[in-house]
Amino acid sequence: MMKFATMKLLEFGFNPGQIYLSMEKNMSCGVGKCGHCMLGKYYVCKEGPVFTLEQIEDYPNIWE
Ligand code: FES
Repeated sequence: MMKFATMKLLEFGFNPGQIYLSMEKNMSCGVGKCGHCMLGKYYVCKEGPVFTLEQIEDYPNIWE
């Protein structure tokens, strides 16, 4: 759902810095110890879970 909503927002002219994504789906320990939530250079549990598309669009696994 987030992927398709994001594609529509981009079609409507929003830029990646205006689109916010909540990426909490892969959290496990929630305190920055296990690394299960890593999204590129970010710990989703400590630095998120909300990121702009601009922050994470270059990482290949954001839609998984
Ligand atoms: S959930 Fe374990 S490090 Fe983020």
